Amino acid sequence: MTMQMTVDDVQTRESRHILQLYRRAAVTFVRGQGVRLYDADGREYLDLLSGIGVASLGHAHPALARAIADQAETLLHTSNLFYHPLQGQLAERLANLSGLPRAFFCNSGTEAVEACLKFTRRYWYTRGESRSEMIALEESFHGRTFGSLSVTSDEHYRTPFAPLLGGVKFVPVNDPDALLAAVSPSTAAIIAEPIQGEGGVRPLTPAFARAISEACARTGALLIADEVQSGLGRTGYPFYFAALGLKPHLVSVGKALGGGVPVGAALVSEQVADTIAFGDHGSTYGGNLLACRAALTFLSELMEGGVMDSVKRVGQVFDQRLHGLAKKHPALIKEVRGLGVIWGLDLTRDAGPVVPAGIANGVIVNRTAETVVRLLPPLNITEAEANEAINRLDAALAAVGAA
Ligand SMILES: Cc1ncc(COP(=O)(O)O)c(C=O)c1O
Repeated sequence: MTMQMTVDDVQTRESRHILQLYRRAAVTFVRGQGVRLYDADGREYLDLLSGIGVASLGHAHPALARAIADQAETLLHTSNLFYHPLQGQLAERLANLSGLPRAFFCNSGTEAVEACLKFTRRYWYTRGESRSEMIALEESFHGRTFGSLSVTSDEHYRTPFAPLLGGVKFVPVNDPDALLAAVSPSTAAIIAEPIQGEGGVRPLTPAFARAISEACARTGALLIADEVQSGLGRTGYPFYFAALGLKPHLVSVGKALGGGVPVGAALVSEQVADTIAFGDHGSTYGGNLLACRAALTFLSELMEGGVMDSVKRVGQVFDQRLHGLAKKHPALIKEVRGLGVIWGLDLTRDAGPVVPAGIANGVIVNRTAETVVRLLPPLNITEAEANEAINRLDAALAAVGAA
């Protein structure tokens, strides 16, 4: 945005020409630095949301900015009709982190999930078994395209777009008996977020994870772990499925991977990869040089630059301070859930008013699942910044509690 443009200009133009799908908060950001965002009037905010878990290294990260600029001056895009040096390197790094040897690159989380669903269909088709039934979880969110929406439970998102893919059964999250009863020899795959994000930051329990493993072993059903929100260091683990002892056949990633450059990936086991043939799926942009360079820069900061260790340390600060807030605001906060830098404060009422109260107090948070204040800060937020941001959140909660 040019600085001459006023906030009113921005909002008026949008109201005329942008398809009205988002209820935006009344703030226009023009610049960022680390965990801080600045609005058009120069006011500063601590960003505990990082663009819904995307700006994983914060804003204007020097190494990421340099890598993107350098790549733009070198080569941005050639398509998947040709080789380039970076896609294989990125796939190899993701294979080492996930244990899944092959990657398909796309541009978003929903495309990553969509690819996992298509690869599941292809797996059973190649094996000559007509399995297409999917088991998904209540409170799940996997994206907005038709396949992903079909395994997303929220009726609000689904109903206007029916009919969706058939053969999807939803089971209550963290109910091992319900899961074991639902999975059968006709189940093609179970799809689950190891930590449900949009559903209110709800980690799967170890008992439920064991039931998933048992059901897959018993029936041969594939397991798709959707790590778009929980993956790539946000929990202090490369992937939360590993912390739960799960061994997925397919994993979807997105959000944090490009640090703000759109990139997603479906990571697949050799067993699944063996059933897929040339031309089965594809993407014009997927895995181009820009996306791969950004993702490689993020992974090198995460693994060699100390970011993963920092998530573990700062996770303790969030843990202690957010539980402290729950003690301080017992009439407002019912439960605190999360780890690392993914947290939810489940309130006794609609969490909506906390968002503008946060903005008024200089902290950006989000409401999800009606009653949950969700925090997805940049992975490299420092302990001092976390403390400062939680002080501001405390003030916002006090304002909401007093209202
Ligand atoms: C677990 C999960 N899967 C998939 C998606 C869809 O990602 P995208 O919005 O990039 O399509 C999201 C987005 O919030 C998500 O949290």
